[in-house]
Amino acid sequence: MNLHDLGGADGDAAGGRAVEPGSGSVPVARTAVELAGVAKTYRRRGVETHALASVDLAIREGEFLAIVGPSGCGKSTRLRLVAGLHLASAGEVRIGGRVVDRPQTALGIVFQSPVLLDWRDALDNVLVQVELRGLDPSAYRERALELLDQVGLRDFADRYPHELSGGMRQRVAIARALIHDAPLLLMDEPFGALDALTREQMRLDLEALWLATRKTVLFITHSVDEAVLLADRVVVMTPRPGRIERVLDIGIARPRGLAARRDAAFAEATQQITDLFLARGVLHGAGRTGVSR
Ligand SMILES: Nc1ncnc2c1ncn2[C@@H]1O[C@H](COP(=O)(O)OP(=O)(O)OP(=O)(O)O)[C@@H](O)[C@H]1O
Ligand SMILES: [Mg+2]
Repeated sequence: MNLHDLGGADGDAAGGRAVEPGSGSVPVARTAVELAGVAKTYRRRGVETHALASVDLAIREGEFLAIVGPSGCGKSTRLRLVAGLHLASAGEVRIGGRVVDRPQTALGIVFQSPVLLDWRDALDNVLVQVELRGLDPSAYRERALELLDQVGLRDFADRYPHELSGGMRQRVAIARALIHDAPLLLMDEPFGALDALTREQMRLDLEALWLATRKTVLFITHSVDEAVLLADRVVVMTPRPGRIERVLDIGIARPRGLAARRDAAFAEATQQITDLFLARGVLHGAGRTGVSR
């Protein structure tokens, strides 16, 4: 797998700006996505679920932003609000300054579960993304095959979802999110179904892809390590209804690769987030030192 070869292949709008290795900083950029007072309450059969409390958040163009928080705190809800798949109960979501009031097409999205079409093989599942946009799928066939190759599925393009493992299905979904080379990538636990080794490799490849393309990425994860290793900023959420508990700047130099786990900043950031979860009762620590509850 080598995802970083993929981005910007046809000169994407994100610009494919080169980044000095080890610079570790995000170029000063405009706001790509803005949530202003955004809240979401689901109503179902007279029952209300306050999924997301009022949230203000701006994601910069070209930024890699991770959201970490306990199950049910509204992470997927927020991603669906940004994609325009659900509408906010209060407040406003804006992409590039325009209010999101319908499903958005200028973004790639990887859902928490891969949502593949059972009657289409892997290649056609990737191509569905361009078909939905009214584009000619034959013009994207080569790129789709290249994407499948890069996510390690070169020999599986003609396999149907039931012939693929959970991790393979998720990799098809990742290829599908990249096919139209959108400048904004929304990823909801994209590596959740992968085995630990593939997950680590996909993380490395995603960082390389991001460094090569500087897409704006909103990345949701349960994994504190993954959030800190990948993101420029990590948003830590409270339990439901989700509020922003803290936003951490992660100053680890890039590319972070495997070495970042040994960086003092990695240890410090993961400890800070763990402490926040301990203080909130999201985690229950036993016998740790240096943790106040
Ligand atoms: N379509 C829906 N209708 C009603 N309630 C919903 C709907 N989608 C989510 N919820 C509720 O909203 C809350 C937040 O759900 P959400 O899926 O956003 O959480 P999450 O942080 O992504 O959790 P996880 O980490 O387990 O994926 C939950 O209590 C959930 O039951
Ligand atoms: Mg979720």
